[in-house]
Amino acid sequence: MAVITCIDDLKRLHRRRTPKMFYDYAESGSYTEQTFRDNTADFAHIRLRQKVAVDMSNRSTAATMVGEAVAMPVALAPVGLTGMQAADGEIKAARAAEAFGVPFTLSTMSICSIEDVAAHTTKPFWFQVYTLKDDDFMRRLLDRAKAAGCSALVITVDLQILGQRHKDLKNGLSAPPKLTARSVADMAMRWRWGLGMLGTKRRFFGNIVGHAKGVTDPSSLSSWTAEAFDLTLDWKRVAQLRAMWGGKVILKGLLDADDARTALAVGADAIVVSNHGGRQLDGALSSIRALPAIVDAVGDQIEVHMDSGIRSGQDVLKALAMGAKGTYIGRAFVHGLGAMGEAGVTKALEVIRKELDTSMALCGERNVSALGRHNLLVPKDFAGDWA
Ligand code: GLV
Repeated sequence: MAVITCIDDLKRLHRRRTPKMFYDYAESGSYTEQTFRDNTADFAHIRLRQKVAVDMSNRSTAATMVGEAVAMPVALAPVGLTGMQAADGEIKAARAAEAFGVPFTLSTMSICSIEDVAAHTTKPFWFQVYTLKDDDFMRRLLDRAKAAGCSALVITVDLQILGQRHKDLKNGLSAPPKLTARSVADMAMRWRWGLGMLGTKRRFFGNIVGHAKGVTDPSSLSSWTAEAFDLTLDWKRVAQLRAMWGGKVILKGLLDADDARTALAVGADAIVVSNHGGRQLDGALSSIRALPAIVDAVGDQIEVHMDSGIRSGQDVLKALAMGAKGTYIGRAFVHGLGAMGEAGVTKALEVIRKELDTSMALCGERNVSALGRHNLLVPKDFAGDWA
């Protein structure tokens, strides 16, 4: 068995073992992919400040996110089509997250349904929603999430329309994959994946097929978003959704300090500084660059989380030291899943925790809560001088 030492190892295996259309779906940004690249490149510009001869015994990465105890402040982000990266992928990822002690967020665009994931886990998970035109479907979706015991609702606010990802169009992305000479030849090379898929019935968008009306092609992410997503989404609607849910709400997809202030006024429990992994507005600032201004604006009044670009424990450390109270990984866990199923997700979490813990110790800290800007060396021009 391959020796896995970092997320990149899992990524290589994921690429080898999963059909191209699904690997590409995960590993894409929109349009020129500038923001997608900046998300990781900008993390690399920040350096860590080493401190020596500091007692590093009794360390802990434990924290809380929206009041829930977590083994480390790293949640699994909602990722569409996770159940196409490996059979029953959302169930496997949720189980790995539960055993590890970090939150799992189920995407509306999942393959396994809310009920499927609830039936195979014992602790509450989080549920992510887009704002949809069909109010009735939306209500039923929230009711289903409540009935399944979901402990927080993550509302995505940056995707009423889909930023184009060129590879998805070229590959003819769909769930299940359409059988063409090319897709069949590709799938035939991924025997593990194929065996898994033959052994499961979960090959459709489980929260949608059989639940939503008026969707002409429920296998296509792009046609479903174009038909079903609510272009009229505004802050009033966000407030309505919060009231409809009645529990904890996390607003995901903010990059602007004014928007963060508005989110605060709407009464969210947390916000996620995110550019959707570089998959929406190409040309937007990387999340790690956008984070400090938002922390400065609202960080003392609301929990600020961040995602987009995290591929290591060092990245988590940098985000926390920049003021985030929680982080999310998407691709990093999907690489684990595509590489090795549930064990791969566990491996991804272990890799990240070990990197976080070791780097924290070498920075002279014993608790993630003590991390701060004093641990970082940030280039003077990092925030940028934007007119
Ligand atoms: C969905 O949220 C996607 O980014 O594909």
